[in-house]
Amino acid sequence: MANNSEARPRWRVPRTNNPKVHRRLQEALTEAVAAVLYGDPWEAQQLIGQFERAFGQALGHRHVSAVQSGSAGLRLALLACGVRPGDEVITVANSDIATTAAISHCGASPVLCDVRADDYTIDPDRVAVLIGERTVGLLPVDLHGHPSDAAALRAIADRHGLFIVQDATLATGARDRGQRLGAYADMIVFSCSPFKPFSGIGSGGLVATEQPPLWERVELLKGYGARRGATPPVTYYHLVEGYNLSMSPMEAAVLAVKLPYLATWSAKRRLIGQWYAERLAGIPGVGLPQPRREAEAIYRTYTVQVPQRDEVYRRLHEQGIHAALHYVPPVHQQPVYRERRLRGADSLPITEALAARTLSLPVDPEFTEAEVDLVCDVLRATLAMTPRP
Ligand SMILES: Cc1ncc(COP(=O)(O)O)c(C=O)c1O
Repeated sequence: MANNSEARPRWRVPRTNNPKVHRRLQEALTEAVAAVLYGDPWEAQQLIGQFERAFGQALGHRHVSAVQSGSAGLRLALLACGVRPGDEVITVANSDIATTAAISHCGASPVLCDVRADDYTIDPDRVAVLIGERTVGLLPVDLHGHPSDAAALRAIADRHGLFIVQDATLATGARDRGQRLGAYADMIVFSCSPFKPFSGIGSGGLVATEQPPLWERVELLKGYGARRGATPPVTYYHLVEGYNLSMSPMEAAVLAVKLPYLATWSAKRRLIGQWYAERLAGIPGVGLPQPRREAEAIYRTYTVQVPQRDEVYRRLHEQGIHAALHYVPPVHQQPVYRERRLRGADSLPITEALAARTLSLPVDPEFTEAEVDLVCDVLRATLAMTPRP
C-alpha cells in the first residue's frame, strides 16, 4: 500500500514553498538550529525572549509573548482578559475550530455573528444586537489575511465595556488604516504553524498587546503560573495553576532567521492579490474578495466565490493546483456544535452562503506571475467545462 507521501500529488502550484525558502536560508537556519541542539539549554531559552523583542520591533508591538501555537495564544489571551465560565464572547463561524474552542476552553460560550460578503470578516453592524448581559468580549478573525474592521468594533466594544482579542493567525504582516494590525484590539494573536503567512517548522504562536498587565498575565499562565523566587530556598512561587505553553526554542530560532524577510513576503502577497484580481476580473459568476480599502490585506490565500465550487475544487486538484476550502462546513454545522445550538447560529445566512461558494487559491511569496497565470488559466478552463448549477 502506498504511504501518505507517495499518495500525495506533486503540486504544479503548491500552497506553500517553505521547503524552497528553507533551502535558500539553509546556512543561517542550520546554524540557528545547531545552536539549540548542541548549545547550552539555558541559552537556548533566551532565544525565545530575543525573538519576542525582534518580532515586536518589526511589527510595532510593545509586548509580545511567544507561545506554543495560535490556539494556545487565543486561549491565553482570553484568560488574560479575564474570561470566566459562564461568559460569552462574540466571534464568527467561518473560522478554524481553534477560534471557538479557545472560548469554550475558558468555560465561556461562543456567540456567532454573521460576516460581510465582501471581505468575509465579522460584520460590525450585526454585533450590537448580539451583545447580552453575559457578553465580555469580541473575537474577530482576520480571515484569509483580510483585516476585520477593528476600528468599528472598538467603538462598539468601548460603548459596552468589552475587550477585543483579534485572531490574526492568518494575517501576520497585514496592516490597517496605516497602522500595525491590532492597534484597535486589546490583544492580537498570530500563528506560526505551517501554511500560515509567517510560519516556522512546527507549531508556534505569538500574543501581542500594548497593555503590560495583559502581557504579564499571558507570561505567567504560559509558564506554569510561576514567578521566580527572589532568594533560595524558594526558586518559584506558583501564583496560579498555569500551563506549559511557551514556544519551543527551536521554533523561535527558525522564526528569528525568517523574520527579516516578513515585510518583503507581505508585500509580495499583496502583489499576488493584485495579479489575481487583474486576471480574474469580469469572469461571469466569479466573485472576488474585496478587503476594506483602508486595510492592507496580505492574502494568505486568494479566496474567490464560484457557484460550482466542489467540482471546480476537485478539477483544480486534478490539474495540480493546490486550492483549499476554508471553512467547510462552518463551525456551527460541525458535529461538535450541532447539538449545542450556540447563540447566533440560527442567523448566519452570509456565512452559510460563502461556505458553499468560497474556494481558496494558493498564494505564496515565491510565486511568479507565470504561476498565477497558470492557476487562472486552469480556473477559467475548469469553469468553462463545469456546468453551472
Ligand atoms: C483562523 C484560525 N485561528 C486559529 C488557528 C489556530 O492556530 P494554530 O494552528 O497555530 O493553533 C487557525 C489555524 O489554522 C486558524 O486558521
